[in-house]
Amino acid sequence: MKTFISTFILIFIFFMFVFFIGFGPNNDSKSIPFDHEQEGLNKQIVINFSHVVAENTPKGQAAERFAKLVAEKTNGKVKVEVFPNGVLYAEGEEVNALIRGEIQMIAPAYSNMTELLPEWLILDLPYIFKDDEHVEAVLNGEIGDALLSQLKKHNIKGIAFWSNGFKQMMSNRGPLKAPADFLGQRFRIMPSKALEDQFHELGVKTSAMPFNQVYRNLESGYLDGIENTISNIYSKRFYKVQKYMTISNHGYLGYSVMMNQEFWDSLPKDIQKDIEEAMDETTNWLYTESQEINNDQLNMIKITSDILIHVLSDEERESWIDFFQPLYEEYGEKYGKRWINEIQKLSN
Ligand code: LMR
Repeated sequence: MKTFISTFILIFIFFMFVFFIGFGPNNDSKSIPFDHEQEGLNKQIVINFSHVVAENTPKGQAAERFAKLVAEKTNGKVKVEVFPNGVLYAEGEEVNALIRGEIQMIAPAYSNMTELLPEWLILDLPYIFKDDEHVEAVLNGEIGDALLSQLKKHNIKGIAFWSNGFKQMMSNRGPLKAPADFLGQRFRIMPSKALEDQFHELGVKTSAMPFNQVYRNLESGYLDGIENTISNIYSKRFYKVQKYMTISNHGYLGYSVMMNQEFWDSLPKDIQKDIEEAMDETTNWLYTESQEINNDQLNMIKITSDILIHVLSDEERESWIDFFQPLYEEYGEKYGKRWINEIQKLSN
């Protein structure tokens, strides 16, 4: 009887042991409840996209649209996180941050790329572009592709050229109708030798400074004037600290949309294809949308401010074009007439 009881106890202990240690509910870490959403996030590819302008500008709107399209096309596998207004990097910092891989995507004005790629200076020559159709034919076509491919040697994947619009002139010192009206003033420029030469030709002193410093330097009176698009003038309230604006359409503000090359190469082929499709749709949409944004915001400036606006007449425009001709000779010699000719061929 004693043996029977001992055997029963041993069998009981054995089963209890097997139940709690061997097959019990808590033996396997895989069975610890986990958050399925969290698992999804671990697999998600995040593209941090930094830019310096406001959300209600052509670039701001395009960035949001691109992020939405990428999420849709990849079924949420890729998330584009947009950081506007220079909250991550100021203008002038973002290109190096991209090359170092600290950020995956940026879209600076192409003028900011001219130190790395001097041939791009041609895009900053005054009156190189006739109208919006001409801009689109150049930047969204074979010339644009050829220029973007030059980025590869800097570890950058060039994806597209985005549009903002034509730049206008503003000053606090007086109306700007003829080239002589600029003499002796100080203007802010983006860091581009062609922009510097454009203003030096006009007898203007230049200060290259990042976008986020422009307002306070206009307000303090350090700068007399600027050139920029209506959407940037409106969204950053530059028109509140300037008295005169000339609709000159003398230069174009476009963006080179770029990713870090190694990051791009690391993406699966199907994801690259989805991103390219999202980019094409966004770019094509933006060429029309950016014109509408600039037109609407020009009306807002007219309605809400006392700024004096002068629209260059055809004759005045012709005299500005003639005035800048020497730059075409100089830049043709320095950077090759090829680009100038190719671009001008598409103007008809
Ligand atoms: C500027 O510096 O004026 C522009 O490049 C800002 C922008 O990104 O539109």
